[in-house]
Amino acid sequence: ADQIDHDLESILLTEEQIRTRVAELAAEIERDYEGQDLLLVGVLKGAVMVMADLARALSRHVEMDWMAVSSYGSGTRSSGVVRILKDLDTDLTGRHVLVVEDIVDTGLTLSWLASNLKSRGPESVEICTMLRKPDAIKTDIPVKYVGFDIPNEFVVGYGLDYAERYRNLRSIGTLAPHVYSRS
Ligand code: PRP
Ligand code: MN
Ligand code: MG
Repeated sequence: ADQIDHDLESILLTEEQIRTRVAELAAEIERDYEGQDLLLVGVLKGAVMVMADLARALSRHVEMDWMAVSSYGSGTRSSGVVRILKDLDTDLTGRHVLVVEDIVDTGLTLSWLASNLKSRGPESVEICTMLRKPDAIKTDIPVKYVGFDIPNEFVVGYGLDYAERYRNLRSIGTLAPHVYSRS
């Protein structure tokens, strides 16, 4: 069989744990932005799943827009130098912006992105990430909403990829060694 969950070594977070946490984050966000317009900015492609679930866990109006960025340098390591591949369609002037990410690893992508967005005259810019790796972080970027702090291991699923695969796993986990030896 060719089922993707056969490639997992261990499950770090189940679909149920993710769903519960997303609902909690949504409740916090609803409280914090009560009475204010809110623009969610998803960072392609990893944030697609959390953006879709978080937005639907909210019972209020939000706008959703997307950015695609790419780090220069090697494919697997963040360099901190970021290039915009697809920019927002939305003018940020006076807007409350909440950037939605799947993971803050080194934090270099978001640190660059947050200051880029802040330069566009928004009312506020905050960050919501499903996962954060405290042991990998290289910046002191403040992240207001964190789903889970996780160990410094390579994880896939729920938007997170290895060579563009595994994004569609419903849970988050580590890959079995045989996956890496395949290439
Ligand atoms: C991954 C992840 C975050 C970023 C985090 O994206 O989705 O966007 O890296 O890394 P950092 O905190 O070390 O900067 P990636 O560049 O792999 O693109 P993808 O979302 O399309 O997979
Ligand atoms: Mn990403
Ligand atoms: Mg990736």
